[in-house]
Amino acid sequence: MILTLDESAERIQDGDLVAIPTETVYGLAADAFNPQAVQKIFEIKGRPADNPLIVHISSLEQVSMLTPSLSSTASVLAEAFWPGPLTLVLEKKEDVPDIVTGGLPTVAVRMPDHPLTLRLIRLTGPLTAPSANRSGMPSPTRASHILDDYGESVDLLDGGPCRIGLESTVVDVTSEKLQILRPGAVTEKIITQKTGLVVTKNSIRDRELRRSPGTRYTHYKPQADVKWIREIPETLSPDSYYLFHSEVGNNFFPSRHLASFNDDFSEFAKTLYDHFRTADRLGCSEILIEYFHADHPHPLISALHDRITRATGESSPR
Ligand code: TXA
Ligand code: MG
Repeated sequence: MILTLDESAERIQDGDLVAIPTETVYGLAADAFNPQAVQKIFEIKGRPADNPLIVHISSLEQVSMLTPSLSSTASVLAEAFWPGPLTLVLEKKEDVPDIVTGGLPTVAVRMPDHPLTLRLIRLTGPLTAPSANRSGMPSPTRASHILDDYGESVDLLDGGPCRIGLESTVVDVTSEKLQILRPGAVTEKIITQKTGLVVTKNSIRDRELRRSPGTRYTHYKPQADVKWIREIPETLSPDSYYLFHSEVGNNFFPSRHLASFNDDFSEFAKTLYDHFRTADRLGCSEILIEYFHADHPHPLISALHDRITRATGESSPR
């Protein structure tokens, strides 16, 4: 059911779940300090218990409920990028329920940049929320995706389509080396430009082996097989869905099975998961994506490249 802001706050306070909008993707939220409520997230999503959740806050003061003290590096990042698509992995306070962090001694925290959700968190206190997709489905970036995944069984605060469309950058600030565990809209370069902090660059493979447990699961994949294509076909197969980043897509007849972004990578990122879902709805057996290099200068490239490559299954150990 679609709820008002006040109804959403009531549901959360009663220990229920509400799907909430953020600037990245929709989350499935529960009161972070109510373990029974958080348990429901794992049940409804079919999420492995060792995959920890992000806690969403609406003010810097709320960080003190979650972590003993912010290091100077963490404070600089929070000041520079919150509210926004940057998640900080911090040392966890004992009061944070273990179910939120999958038993880890750290907690992931971010302040989402969405006016409705910030207002909601002011009413409820910190909310823990994973992306609201069912495990194994692409993250929801529109209210209709929540209804597609859960029907009426999940309550929803409708905040319109997500502005960015890919999940937040996750940065580990618990050790001296600042490390990106999951790429997002806040890149190494943007961090350095804005704060002067140096980020250790690591490959997808490194990240797989590191401590962001969620990146071990192939949860960006739709039902259709996703493949990079390096050569543009002369004709398009009716069973396939095509995503072209360059203008070559304009050479084909417009079709429901094709999107052409003309180098607008922001639009590509914003709609990627919607295209994955559309391809599945149309019954396409594969989604073919014109290859681009991860070093392209657009700020969303590394996140987009990462999610597509994961969806192909190429970089995942299982
Ligand atoms: O943009 C986003 O981050 C969205 C919106 C809803 O905020 N949320 C999201 O949550 O993508 P989820 O659960 O789908 O992904 C959270 C990621 C996972 O890769 C998880 O393993 C990692 O953050 N994570 C959470 N807590 C962690 C921790 N303590 N240490 C390392 N990684 C952690
Ligand atoms: Mg997710």
